[in-house]
Amino acid sequence: MEHFPPEAPPDQGASSCIYPPTQENLDFFADRLRRGHLVAVPTETVYGLAALATDEEACRRIFAVKGRPLLDPLIVHVDGTARIPEIALPVEGLEELARKFWPGPLTVILPKRERIPDLITSGKPSVAVRVPRHETTLALLGKVNGPLAAPSANPFGYVSPTRAEHVAAAFGRRVPYIVDGGPCQIGLESTILDLRNPKRPALLRPGAIGLDALQSCLGRSITCPENSVQPGQAALAPGTLQRHYSPRTPLHLFTGAPALESLGDGSQAVVFLRPPADRNRPEESRMHFFWWSESGEFAEIARNLFALLRTLDDRKFTAIHCQLPQGDAPLAIALRDRLHRAAAKT
Ligand code: TXA
Ligand code: MG
Repeated sequence: MEHFPPEAPPDQGASSCIYPPTQENLDFFADRLRRGHLVAVPTETVYGLAALATDEEACRRIFAVKGRPLLDPLIVHVDGTARIPEIALPVEGLEELARKFWPGPLTVILPKRERIPDLITSGKPSVAVRVPRHETTLALLGKVNGPLAAPSANPFGYVSPTRAEHVAAAFGRRVPYIVDGGPCQIGLESTILDLRNPKRPALLRPGAIGLDALQSCLGRSITCPENSVQPGQAALAPGTLQRHYSPRTPLHLFTGAPALESLGDGSQAVVFLRPPADRNRPEESRMHFFWWSESGEFAEIARNLFALLRTLDDRKFTAIHCQLPQGDAPLAIALRDRLHRAAAKT
C-alpha cells in the first residue's frame, strides 16, 4: 500500500497530487513505478492509471482503486515496437500497423507472453498493447525501461479523464501521483483491434483510427462483432449496450432538433454539437444550452466530450440532453459509441 503521507517528487505541482513533468519528477516517478506504486499518466487519448505490467501486486491495486472487476483486462503500454516481443507474439500485419499508427491511438490484441501476469489479461491468453503518442509518457516508459499497464484513470464505469484535474477529483489521495500532461489531444480512448487471428481481424472498440484506414493498411477486411459498433450505424441495437463512460445525471440523446417544450422547468441541460442559432437570445428566456464545440468539427467535439460531461454532471441538472453526431467519419462513429454507452441504463 502507499505510505501516507507519500514521499513527494522534487518539483512540486499546483495541487497536492498533480506534478509537472520535469526530468527530476519523471526520474522519481519511474523509480516509484519500479517499486510497485501507481502513477496516473497523460496520453493523447485519455489519462491512464499506470503500474509496472510485470508487477502483479501493483496491477491488483489498479483494479482495487478503480473498483474495476478483475474480469476486465488492462491495456499494456510500451515505448516502441521493439518492446513487443517481450510481452506478446508478433503476428502477421502487426509490423505494417505499427509503422503506420504507432505511436498513436491504436490498441492491438495479441497472443501474450508468459511474462505478463494472468491478472492483467483476466486469465486470457491474449494481451492488449499500445504505444501512446505523448512525449511525457514515452519519456517515462523509457526511464522505467519496461511495460506499463494502464486503464483509463477513472472510477469504473464513470466518465473518462482528459485532464489531470479529473483524476485528482475522482481519486483524491488514493492516487498520490498524477503527471500533468495538459488536456488530452484526442479525448476518446484508442481504437481496439483484435489481431489474435490475423486472418480474421476484428474491431472491438471504435476510436480516432477508423475501419477503412485499418483495412487498407492490413489489406483485408475487418469484422465488427456483435455488441461492437457498426460503421455508419446511428444507433446500436438496444439491449446490447454496456453502460460505461456514464455521468450520474440521466443522459438522453437526440438527433436533429430537441423537443424543447418537453424540457419544462429549465432544470435540464441541452448540449448541441455547435453553437445553436439562437445562442444570443435574451438571458431570461435561455434554457441551459451548451455546445461541444465552436466549430462543429468532430476532433473538437471529441476533445471536449468528457470534460463537458463532467462539468454538467457536477452542476446537478435533473437531466442532460445531448445531440448525436451524424455520418461515417471515424470520430463520429466513436463519439456515438461513447454517447450511447454513457446513456445506456444498464
Ligand atoms: O486510449 C486508451 O486505450 C486508454 C489509454 C490510457 O491508453 N486506455 C483505456 O483502457 O481505455 P481501458 O482499460 O479503460 O479500456 C481497455 C479496454 C477494456 O474494455 C478491456 O476490456 C479491453 O480494452 N481489453 C484489454 N485487454 C484485452 C484483451 N486481452 N482482450 C480483449 N479486450 C481487452
Ligand atoms: Mg476505461
